[in-house]
This record gives sequence, structure tokens and C-alpha cells, in this order.
Amino acid sequence: MMISSAMNAKLNEQISAEFTAAFSYLAMACVFDGMGLKVLRGRFIQQSDEEREHAMKIIRYLSEVGGSVALEGIAKPKTDYKNVEAVVSAALQNEKDITAKINELVSLAEKEKDYATRGFLAWFVDEQVEEISSMTDLLNLVRLAGGNVLQVEAAVRHQMLAEKEKS
Ligand code: FEO
Repeated sequence: MMISSAMNAKLNEQISAEFTAAFSYLAMACVFDGMGLKVLRGRFIQQSDEEREHAMKIIRYLSEVGGSVALEGIAKPKTDYKNVEAVVSAALQNEKDITAKINELVSLAEKEKDYATRGFLAWFVDEQVEEISSMTDLLNLVRLAGGNVLQVEAAVRHQMLAEKEKS
């Protein structure tokens, strides 16, 4: 195995955190669906898919370095949000928590002089900057709209179309 047991265990924790985030965002998408907000539903399904892909990246890395994957159970996600702002605030907090975990992994890699894992984690460091930024933008948008959820839906639809055109 090219990584330490401690790093292997921490990467397994990160796999759980990413799958938990995927499950939470899927639950949030369903909450939006229940509110009749189809664009936010789509935005959060997309987010959920990305989190699953983050977990898969770590699973593939563990396979490459001869580590072992240990999947954990995923807790029941919260669904009793009082409004759109509460959902997006929780999502932003979740991204901050995930960033803290990625930073802990980077610290461990540096402490262990595990430069392979440090290099692998660089993508996640950049991704977290992007995710916190986009979730902060969404929260600001929701707050600016001041309860006009249809305005939020229109703005998010516009953003998603623009991103699709870029890719
Ligand atoms: Fe995988 Fe949104 O962090």
C-alpha cells in the first residue's frame, strides 16, 4: 500500500462525507420539488451527482494506491426546512464542513510527506473554493430576492444554461 493506514482511514471518512453530502443534497432537491421549485430541484440533483462523483474519485484513488475502501452507513438526511433560505444556508454550511475535512486531509498528507495524496487532494482544494463560492452566491441571491422564489428560479435557470453553454 502506497499510503499510511491513518491516511487510508481518513480517506474512507471522506468517502462517507461525500456520500452523506450527495444524500443530503438529494433530500434538499426533494424538498424543493415539494415546494414546486423545479429549477432549484434540478440544481440540487446536479450538486448531489457531483458529490457522488467526489466519493468515486476517492474510491478510485484508494484502488490505485492499494488502499482499502470501507463504506459506512449514511444517516437519514434532514428534510424539515422552513424555507428556501434555510435549505441553502444548510448547504453552504455543509460545504464549509467538507472544506475543513479536506484541509485536515491535506495537513495529514503534508505531515506524512505523502506527496502523492497531497497532489491528489489539490483538485479537491480547488473544487471546494468553487463550491463555497457558488453556494454563497446562491444564498445571496435568495436573500436579495427577499422571498420572491420565482425570481430565484429564473436566475438559477439562467446560470445553469450559461454553465451548460460553457461546457
Ligand atoms: Fe464534495 Fe461539495 O464537496
